[in-house]
Amino acid sequence: MRKVIALKTASDFSAYLASLGVSLPFDETVESGPDSPLAQPYILNDRVIGNRFAALPMEGWDGTIDGCPTELTKRRWQRFGLSGAKLIWGGEAAAVRPDGKGSPNQLMILNETVGEFAELRELLVQTHKEHFDNSDDLMVGLQLTHSGRVSRPYDKNRPEPIILYHHPILDQKFGLTADSPVMTDDEIARLVDDFVRAAALAQQAGFAFVDIKYCHGYLGHEFLSAVDRPGRYGGSFENRTRFLREIVAGIRAKAPGLDIAVRLSAFDFLPFQRGEGGRGEPVPFRGDSYPYAFGGDGTGLGIDLTEPLAFLDLLTELGIKLVCISAGGGYYNPHILRPSFLPASDGYRPPEDPLVGVARLVSVTAELKRQRPQLVYVGSGYSYLQQWLPNVAQHVIRTGMVDFVGIGRMVLCYPDMMTDVLTGKPLKHRMICRACSDCTTAPRKGMVSGCYSLDEFYRKRPEYQQLRQLKRQK
Ligand SMILES: Cc1cc2nc3c(=O)[nH]c(=O)nc-3n(C[C@H](O)[C@H](O)[C@H](O)COP(=O)(O)O)c2cc1C
Ligand code: SF4
Repeated sequence: MRKVIALKTASDFSAYLASLGVSLPFDETVESGPDSPLAQPYILNDRVIGNRFAALPMEGWDGTIDGCPTELTKRRWQRFGLSGAKLIWGGEAAAVRPDGKGSPNQLMILNETVGEFAELRELLVQTHKEHFDNSDDLMVGLQLTHSGRVSRPYDKNRPEPIILYHHPILDQKFGLTADSPVMTDDEIARLVDDFVRAAALAQQAGFAFVDIKYCHGYLGHEFLSAVDRPGRYGGSFENRTRFLREIVAGIRAKAPGLDIAVRLSAFDFLPFQRGEGGRGEPVPFRGDSYPYAFGGDGTGLGIDLTEPLAFLDLLTELGIKLVCISAGGGYYNPHILRPSFLPASDGYRPPEDPLVGVARLVSVTAELKRQRPQLVYVGSGYSYLQQWLPNVAQHVIRTGMVDFVGIGRMVLCYPDMMTDVLTGKPLKHRMICRACSDCTTAPRKGMVSGCYSLDEFYRKRPEYQQLRQLKRQK
């Protein structure tokens, strides 16, 4: 596997992609200035979004135990604001109630915390205004979540999963047994109310939209694969999407005027585990077909977009236009959503060149947009492209493969990359994300997240030494 940093020229990059058999189109030259493709505004209903970059949600495992932002959270949101992205997709995942927190330090939007969320959003907007004079063309949303199977709300070392069905592989991974309880239909109905209440609070705090999180193995996403759950919320596609329909109906009634968006894992694979030499391999599954991968073709490693397209049709019926496409589960097959050179501490070495993962996300997003062009698409997974990110970004926007290029990790280490691209400044090469996964390893080990690799601020924190020690012990 070659390091992207070593692919210095366009012909090196093309030749390497060809050697992988990967189709990932890019523009050789990146334009800047107001006429450049990435600087074009997007008109969404009566709103103007000032350019084609979106900052993806990035949590920091750094809130207070009652769900409020800390100085670290505020710093991250300020950096979202100064990034130059005009669409802030959700900021970070905020739990709608205590048992849905993925860590004791996850943010939580409640009556008691709504004021803090309003201040956090305002801080981002003001920071943006200071850097770019204008925030009228900035759109800021809040991502709402319940962590479901990966809930760990009260103690970093104590998972407290809340599940919709018994999964033949993931139950074992999360320490569940056959008699572990499954959420009842009545409990789900109460959770719908919590999402609706959280959305109304987000509106009160000034957010333009809420993103109902349907990705990465959290509860919303788990509904989509609840194929053998009995009752109102499992089995048929209609039942598996009832949760979303109920939340949307509630939000329309309780928070009229609030836009609704969905971040979707549009395809999924089998869970992966460490195989020979630490390389990732799919966990063996006994059975003719693997039915628990939404957007999967039954093999556990292939894609079938029939249901994701039906899901996009449902979004259209519900009047939802904004969709962010991601994939898989962060805790069971992270390489398909967060292509990385090195694994996080709980992960495995990449089972494929990470560029294959980037290309898969790019092409699936483009295919969904081609087949359902009425929606507004934000793509994910571009950070691994490193210095080639602007070239691929410009190509996918210029050719209409996606409407916004969503940027995750790169915002942590090099928040003003987008501004440098838009203004034609040379890239700051030493700031470019190296896909080293330190920002994921840290929270997996109970520490706050951040770019420990390149951001001096985090390198000076004591956690940096802890991380180094962990690496030495490996
Ligand atoms: C530290 C960290 C925190 C993240 N937090 C969230 C989150 O709160 N919500 C979410 O939907 N995705 C989250 N993600 C996933 C990113 O939004 C993004 O999908 C992923 O990193 C791939 O994009 P990239 O290649 O630009 O990083 C997180 C990823 C990282 C590395
Ligand atoms: S720690 Fe920094 S360089 Fe490493 S993956 Fe995260 S953002 Fe990129």
